[in-house]
Amino acid sequence: MEQKSIALDGPAGAGKSTLARRAAEHFGLIYVDTGALYRCIGLHALRNGINSSDEQGVAGLLHGISIEMKHDGDGLQRMLLCGEDVTDAIRSPESSKYASDVSPMPKVRDFLLSMQREMVVKYDAIMDGRDIGTVVLPNAGLKIFITADMEKRVQRRYLELKEKNSDTVLEEVREAMLLRDKKDRERTVAPLKAADDAVLLDTTLLNLDESFEALCEIISRRFGL
Ligand code: DC
Repeated sequence: MEQKSIALDGPAGAGKSTLARRAAEHFGLIYVDTGALYRCIGLHALRNGINSSDEQGVAGLLHGISIEMKHDGDGLQRMLLCGEDVTDAIRSPESSKYASDVSPMPKVRDFLLSMQREMVVKYDAIMDGRDIGTVVLPNAGLKIFITADMEKRVQRRYLELKEKNSDTVLEEVREAMLLRDKKDRERTVAPLKAADDAVLLDTTLLNLDESFEALCEIISRRFGL
């Protein structure tokens, strides 16, 4: 089924997850947010008192970990870590930092690779992440790289976080995003980059509805829908 699946990559704040969720609903696909898998491992390490740079310590946790992904009626992806619903907990700034620190570790990436590939065996999916088109689904029927200028991405993430927590500070959001971007792009294992055959979608000058329309057009054109 991989040929009918869509790989959606790009940096944080480009609008990937919101757009992917809407597109999944529109085209009847399963939405898979792969960042949530890395976030679960980050949270598990954090809760077990493992330092986020301790590669051996994090690898040691992988044997006993259970991560499940469930989709509820409205297409929202819920994450279960060892049976507990951690959908909200994995979004905290501390958990985000841990996710970013554990995601370059080869053992973590290997561990999650088969899990991600298994998801497109049963269902046609739109899967978002950093290396979906380059590593996870190299034969995806469509690869899209969504991006936007850094400042625009900072503003979007700031507004999103501020809605949940009014104490959110713009400068801190900018600093965290700059750092995460740099790490995602410069890591040696599965760095963030567009696949050679990816279609580029720049959402800097587009609002959410316009971005969604542009995405739908790319998908419709490719699959003749
Ligand atoms: O998309 P996100 O912010 O929820 O991702 C959380 C972290 O996981 C982020 O630091 C990048 C990393 N990640 C990754 O390395 N590969 C993926 N396919 C998805 C996310």
